[in-house]
Amino acid sequence: MGLIIMFVGFGLQTNAQTYTDFNPGQIWKDDKGVHINAHGGGIVNVKGVYYWFGEHKVAGELGNTAQVGVHCYFSKDLYNWKDEGIALAVVNDPSSDIAKGSIIERPKVVYNKKTKKFVMWFHLELLGKGYAAARTGVAVADKATGPYTFIKSYRPNAGKQPFYAVGTPETEKVNCEQPKDKVDGFFCRDLPGGQMARDMTVFVDDDGKAYHVFSSEENFTLHLAELTPDYLSHTGKFIRIYVGQQTEAPALFKKDGVYYMVGSGCTGWAPNPARWFKASSIWGPWTFMGNPCEGEGANKTFGGQSTHVLPAPGKPGQFIFMADKWEPKDAIDGRYLWLPIHFEGDKIKIRWMDKWNLSVFK
Ligand code: DGJ
Repeated sequence: MGLIIMFVGFGLQTNAQTYTDFNPGQIWKDDKGVHINAHGGGIVNVKGVYYWFGEHKVAGELGNTAQVGVHCYFSKDLYNWKDEGIALAVVNDPSSDIAKGSIIERPKVVYNKKTKKFVMWFHLELLGKGYAAARTGVAVADKATGPYTFIKSYRPNAGKQPFYAVGTPETEKVNCEQPKDKVDGFFCRDLPGGQMARDMTVFVDDDGKAYHVFSSEENFTLHLAELTPDYLSHTGKFIRIYVGQQTEAPALFKKDGVYYMVGSGCTGWAPNPARWFKASSIWGPWTFMGNPCEGEGANKTFGGQSTHVLPAPGKPGQFIFMADKWEPKDAIDGRYLWLPIHFEGDKIKIRWMDKWNLSVFK
């Protein structure tokens, strides 16, 4: 009997504490007692359990380059995360698109119910080219945790003009015969080779259609682009959002048939005010609604930058805002800021909380 108790005791022994709250900005340890390493991340809900994918950073300034790959964690309750290892690994060959030392940012995984595949999209910068490549990459897996097989990277929608709602005046359309300003000029410059694609997210609508939303045109303008039914390519249908206003870090969600997007301005790793948008159709128009954050620190998104919005478990119509507090000098020490989204009248509000849990969602 004594022996059995001893064994049980050993079985339960773990380096990690059990979390029952979110503690924005604090160290957040995984099941091995290590600070979670999944920055610029997103979460996919598969039959009520959660997989968190993000950039695996290393210590020091090199840490913002892809030395390892995309890290995956698993959770049943969103508080406690099990390390599932590297889902997409960098390749030890400098000629690979996803070579060690390239830049892989903001990976987002979605599940395709038709193909039964997990599809990962990410922002990719080729090795040694700084942020000049501005490509998107895609990888696929049979299991949520991977391993993911890299398929391709490119700039989307080469040769394609934006989609416009019926009745859009000609003066509002981009005209590459005569671009009206430098932003339209960037669009026209990139028309033959495909549009730049940096900060990004992927959103799957209720009808199973998926959309890739990314900072394009030298980060001046967001593009929202339809993906093919297998989620592995772009169809060529897309819109430009908030033209010339430098939106980064997009995260989409939908409530009661209305589409919402939270994003940020464009100030490198430094925080800036968040911004949000609303639309009654995915194809827009998307209306700029201002800063959703309120209270002290609201003008800097409480030190963070949006990365994803997650539907709250078991609470339809309630959402969790996920942001990164970057540490560019020691990237691995970046922190996670998760906060509840409040719906007040026709607005959303995000307020700081030192500590909170899912009981805030009534
Ligand atoms: C801000 C972006 O949101 C990040 O993902 C990253 O690309 C940094 N800029 C790089 O400065």
